[in-house]
Amino acid sequence: MYAACILLWTLLGSCFLSTVFGYKPVVVVHGLFDSSADFTDLNQFINQSHPGTNVSVIDLFDRSASLLPLWKQVEGFKEAIYPIMQNSADGVNLICYSQGGLICRGILSVLPDHNVHSFISLSSPQAGQYGDTDYLKYLFPKFVKSNIYRVCYTSLGQRISICNYWNDPHHREMYVNSSDYLALLNNERPHPNSTVWKENFLRIKKLVLIGGPDDGVIMPWQSSHFGFYDDNETVVEMKYQDAFLRDLFGLKTLYARGDLEMCSVPGVQHVYWHSNETVYKTCIEKWLT
Ligand SMILES: *[C@@H]1O[C@H](CO)[C@@H](O)[C@H](O)[C@H]1NC(C)=O
Ligand SMILES: *[C@@H]1O[C@H](CO)[C@@H](O)[C@H](O)[C@H]1NC(C)=O
Ligand SMILES: *[C@@H]1O[C@H](CO)[C@@H](O)[C@H](O)[C@H]1NC(C)=O
Ligand SMILES: *[C@@H]1O[C@H](CO)[C@@H](O)[C@H](O)[C@H]1NC(C)=O
Ligand SMILES: *[C@@H]1O[C@H](CO)[C@@H](O)[C@H](O)[C@H]1NC(C)=O
Ligand SMILES: *[C@@H]1O[C@H](CO)[C@@H](O)[C@H](O)[C@H]1NC(C)=O
Repeated sequence: MYAACILLWTLLGSCFLSTVFGYKPVVVVHGLFDSSADFTDLNQFINQSHPGTNVSVIDLFDRSASLLPLWKQVEGFKEAIYPIMQNSADGVNLICYSQGGLICRGILSVLPDHNVHSFISLSSPQAGQYGDTDYLKYLFPKFVKSNIYRVCYTSLGQRISICNYWNDPHHREMYVNSSDYLALLNNERPHPNSTVWKENFLRIKKLVLIGGPDDGVIMPWQSSHFGFYDDNETVVEMKYQDAFLRDLFGLKTLYARGDLEMCSVPGVQHVYWHSNETVYKTCIEKWLT
């Protein structure tokens, strides 16, 4: 009887609390060369569909500062986000755009007591990047995708964010040996914290991968869904990737748990992912409870 009352009270109590306090806070992490100011549309979509949600767009490493090494950015964003997590007993949801999606994976790997429910990866090069883009031409005018590994896979190169996830399919072994970020996150190069990072990452309740064929910047675009090129530059989807098959960092576990969602939207160029209401309605809204 007593136990039943406690149970009933617990159930009613938590229903009551979630109605009063509403939706979990949302934390947004921006991408390369942008800043928190670029997320007003997303903020509005959330405010309209989930009124009262406390949305924090973290204003750090804006514009050219987004080129700083990703571990440095992980430290900075972590400092800013951790107090928000601590303020929210019910947990938080994360929306991480483009390069920000890799920063968020870093945070989720190294933070043992994070309380992230949905980790929403919005057109992020999760399996790496290999393509000639305007960003690349701007940063390395004298290089093309086929030879940029010469810069990126050096210790100097690894001090630039995009080199941290540059993944040249023709130089796999150099990537595995030299990438100080993605190859470690993916446990492609094993390290003493591999197991712990995987456990930490797996604390998320839901991984939502969003991307699409008209992105134009993420190359291949399937990298947003953990697909990538083989050494013939043919895209191999996530389910046939070594990191998935060997469950190197938890992807296969999430998939088996039924907690991996993929959302693919055509007709969206890279810079419009966070301001496109169709994308919000189709791929994001339902995970922000
Ligand atoms: C959310 O919408 C309400 C009503 O339209 C508005 O008053 C409020 O300023 C909005 N808040 C944010 C953060 O956009
Ligand atoms: C929103 O969250 C931030 C960070 O946790 C907090 O400082 C702020 O007080 C919150 N705002 C509201 C209206 O709850
Ligand atoms: C890595 O592991 C060591 C010891 O096992 C621990 O002290 C350190 O905090 C860990 N670092 C991260 C980032 O997980
Ligand atoms: C990668 O590292 C391994 C082990 O240190 C070494 O044997 C191999 O030659 C390296 N490969 C390249 C391409 O650097
Ligand atoms: C790459 O293409 C070559 C020649 O077409 C073929 O022999 C080889 O099996 C292909 N490799 C992969 C990994 O598909
Ligand atoms: C928004 O998404 C829709 C549906 O996928 C697409 O047709 C449209 O072109 C997009 N608009 C912009 C500005 O990206």
